Amino acid sequence: MYISELKILNFRNYEILKLRLKKNINILIGDNGQGKTNLLESIYVLGLTKSHRSFIDNNLIKKNEKNCIIKGILNKDTIKTNLEIDMENKKKILKIDNNIMKKSSDYISKMNIIIFYPEDLELIKGSPITRRRFLNLELSQLNSNYFVILNDYNKLLKMRNDYLKNNYIDINYLNILTNYLIEKAIIIYKIREKFINKLNDNIENIFYNITNLKNFNIKYKTSIEIKNLTRDEIKQSLREKFDEVKDQEIKFKNTLIGPHRDDFEFYVGDLNLKNYGSQGQQRLAIISLKLGEIDIFKKYVGTNPILLLDDVFSELDENKKNNLLKYINKDNQVIITTTDLNNIDKKILNNAKIIKIKNGKILKKEM
Ligand SMILES: Nc1ncnc2c1ncn2[C@@H]1O[C@H](COP(=O)(O)OP(=O)(O)O)[C@@H](O)[C@H]1O
Ligand SMILES: [Mg+2]
Repeated sequence: MYISELKILNFRNYEILKLRLKKNINILIGDNGQGKTNLLESIYVLGLTKSHRSFIDNNLIKKNEKNCIIKGILNKDTIKTNLEIDMENKKKILKIDNNIMKKSSDYISKMNIIIFYPEDLELIKGSPITRRRFLNLELSQLNSNYFVILNDYNKLLKMRNDYLKNNYIDINYLNILTNYLIEKAIIIYKIREKFINKLNDNIENIFYNITNLKNFNIKYKTSIEIKNLTRDEIKQSLREKFDEVKDQEIKFKNTLIGPHRDDFEFYVGDLNLKNYGSQGQQRLAIISLKLGEIDIFKKYVGTNPILLLDDVFSELDENKKNNLLKYINKDNQVIITTTDLNNIDKKILNNAKIIKIKNGKILKKEM
């Protein structure tokens, strides 16, 4: 899939912008602070309704303006879809072909995006929240049902946590809430496990080809052991664990186990990259992770995801860069930001659309 046209009104430092994009490689070039990342971000928001770098939607609206609009034409096989997001002071309207979408789950799975950006390193160094957020974003794109189940789970979790805040707890009622929660938890565990297993099928080789290091893998960490267990076995195990922690939960007035506590870690062999990896290895681990996703998106959704690469090339040496480029499939639309073209391979430049950006405006096409 690819975006052929993008229109922006009052997004970040853009007042008004209309841009055609190439099916393959597009390079956004400009000095620091001109709006390269903002443009990439607008595409990300168009696809996923949220920014990858700001939790506050209002930051996305141009200063001193009340609303912003992002529109794009998404091409998938021969079908063109008009996507649109209108934001105004905490209100967000999602449109597909001019029809307002009530459920964001229906919207989010339309456009598939894989983004690489410098702060991605937080996936290794940051807190588990960052990693759960990653899982949720990727799986919501791959499976709109996941988004629905996750929402159900979160509602039940909130109900259960609210109930645990009471001074008197009726154990029978708590058990009922627990059983509802367990049903959703199992589905989330299974979907996440499958995704991580599929990533592990892909990333070891990718990491090896870029770094020459063997046995790169991701370990999924859950409140209970779920590996190789059936749904019924997980249910049983969750019930036992909930029994075990019941007193603590009542004491802390909080649900202590379940997928909302999930995490995953990156290993090379037995070494945890968080503690033992160099900055370079950590970065390449993330890049391998993202590259490993391309295949999964292709298989699940039947089309290539759009790749957004923010300042990725500048940080890699020649050799690693070229190794990386080998993986960027010709069939993917790629949108890359960079401050200069020196560090980009000639082969790529010849096929690319070069878009020069200055102060929230497109200057002219180079070459
Ligand atoms: N809501 C906003 N309204 C107006 N300008 C903004 C807004 N948010 C960010 N900016 C401006 O965008 C610029 C940064 O753009 P960015 O895309 O991050 O640059 P770069 O080209 O280095 O990637 C800064 O000058 C910043 O002030
Ligand atoms: Mg930037």
